[in-house]
Amino acid sequence: MERLSTGIKGLDSLIQGYPKGRAILVTGESGAGKTIFGLQFLTSCCEAGVTSVYISMEERPEDLKAQAMSFGWDLADYEHKGLLWIVDLLERRMGWVEDAATHGLEKPYKSLIKIVSEIYEERRLCALPISGVQKEKKAVPDVVILDNIGVFAMGISTPELREQLDTLVFKLSGLGCTSLIISDDAVAKMSQDIMLYSVYGAIRLRKRDNPYTSKRERVMDIIKIRNTKIPLEYLLFDITDKGIELIVKSED
Ligand SMILES: Nc1ncnc2c1ncn2[C@@H]1O[C@H](COP(=O)(O)OP(=O)(O)O)[C@@H](O)[C@H]1O
Ligand SMILES: [Mg+2]
Repeated sequence: MERLSTGIKGLDSLIQGYPKGRAILVTGESGAGKTIFGLQFLTSCCEAGVTSVYISMEERPEDLKAQAMSFGWDLADYEHKGLLWIVDLLERRMGWVEDAATHGLEKPYKSLIKIVSEIYEERRLCALPISGVQKEKKAVPDVVILDNIGVFAMGISTPELREQLDTLVFKLSGLGCTSLIISDDAVAKMSQDIMLYSVYGAIRLRKRDNPYTSKRERVMDIIKIRNTKIPLEYLLFDITDKGIELIVKSED
């Protein structure tokens, strides 16, 4: 099975990177580092010439770019090279909410599948600026990152969420897309972790109190990655000026 680098030093050797053409779910509470985790993968992809779409559901593209730049990751440069397309779903969402309010509609949010299909159709139609890096326009990106699906999952029942996610994952995999699906913990818990079954792999980011040092620490729980040997223990990490860095415990 072919793999893509996670962009996190030391993680690839532990989980062999992400399986190509499959979906990985990333969950965690607010401030756990999910967006940075996604941006780091995105940067690693763009650096490797892998075309990517970042669907931002709760942050403006300029905020994402500023956050990425704080680690030295120049997203605008990848956009210019035609390697990256950031979709501002926050603005679109606000449009749907406004529309629904104006027309007295009940459900302002479209389904996840519909949203992603529309974005893919647009991508096929729109003229992405292509530089020398990419010889021809690719209709389908290699990687898609959805950050985060929580708001779309909230208004629907758990079985409906399962159906939607299964279909979305099936469609993206069918297109050969490797996807990182980010969701906040609140929704993941509300749906009794049903989302875990739809995906090939799942990672949870957490902040926890260390009872021995009484300090808070960041940990990564590799819940599952099918067809892959994974570490059972929590992986300690930090967010530094280089992004997410694993803290490898010394052997002694
Ligand atoms: N340049 C930086 N250096 C160190 N820590 C940072 C930097 N930028 C952001 N952080 C920290 O990363 C945390 C998590 O960010 P984020 O990925 O947005 O969380 P989430 O998406 O899970 O809500 C922030 O609350 C902040 O404390
Ligand atoms: Mg976030």
